[in-house]
Amino acid sequence: MSRNPFQNTVAIVTGGASGIGRALCEALGRHGATVVVADVDESGAKQVADAIPGGRAQAATLDVTQGEAVRALVEATVREHGRLDYLFNNAGVALAAEVRDMTLEHWRRILDVHLWGVIHGTMSAYPIMLRQGFGHIVNTASIAGLLPGPVMTAYSTAKHAIVGLSLSLRCEAAELGVRVSVVCPGFVRSRIFERAAVVQPRWDEPREVFQACLDAAVPPERMMDCTRAAEAILAGVRRNRGLIIFPFRTWLAWWLYRLWPPLLRPIAQSTLAAFRGQP
Ligand SMILES: NC(=O)c1ccc[n+]([C@@H]2O[C@H](COP(=O)([O-])OP(=O)(O)OC[C@H]3O[C@@H](n4cnc5c(N)ncnc54)[C@H](O)[C@@H]3O)[C@@H](O)[C@H]2O)c1
Repeated sequence: MSRNPFQNTVAIVTGGASGIGRALCEALGRHGATVVVADVDESGAKQVADAIPGGRAQAATLDVTQGEAVRALVEATVREHGRLDYLFNNAGVALAAEVRDMTLEHWRRILDVHLWGVIHGTMSAYPIMLRQGFGHIVNTASIAGLLPGPVMTAYSTAKHAIVGLSLSLRCEAAELGVRVSVVCPGFVRSRIFERAAVVQPRWDEPREVFQACLDAAVPPERMMDCTRAAEAILAGVRRNRGLIIFPFRTWLAWWLYRLWPPLLRPIAQSTLAAFRGQP
């Protein structure tokens, strides 16, 4: 295996304008990859691409809920660069809500961006990677894709599905030369929380309740920063890990949950209590 498997490769990163996606674009750029920074946020994607030295990055406006648009971007990238080595299906949004307060529209929005976003990316890139005989699809789920996520049930549903999709496809794809990994981070300091839709009709200031809930679960200073998260992801990709789980305490929580699920029940209960505003 080459010491730097990203050198002279071609990568698409969805949700590349911010947070973990942005850090991934910057890290891939540093490692010598040509990066397509794809995001629904047009100016943000352009800023990230322009800031990557060497002129190898380009911005693309993309809404991952639009399957045809995803396919067009993947095909255009391969036409222009002759190959696609990595697709990072990373775009995401958050919704904090109890199911009793959610509408079908809430469910659709979360499943569209997360699950259908990943399906659109996978179905566009996988046939091309099969033809090439190489390529690596890296899907961002979350630790909420491995553990229960009360108050984030739609998000957790989508992320569990992304884990299932990725690990199943990994089996199918391995002998055909294509790699598939799924990333399950714990808390990472990004803007996803301040951008989250919060539904808590029993409170005047649902955003404040959500923030208090989040601060109780993990203070911002204990969250991993995006640059370190991107390094952890690329280290896992380099080693062709199926499941990429970080930081260490998140990995530990997952192991404890597998050994004895009730061990994590107090954490789930305290998250719910904080969101409901109970002492
Ligand atoms: N931050 C965390 O603690 C954390 C933990 C686990 C998993 N994740 C996952 O990591 C991924 C990146 O999140 P982040 O924390 O960097 O958040 P972020 O809000 O900083 O970045 C998300 C990016 O996705 C883009 N995006 C949203 N909807 C899109 C769409 N329909 N099409 C294209 N782009 C779209 C946004 O414009 C934004 O640039 C998400 O999938 C998220 O669920 C984050």
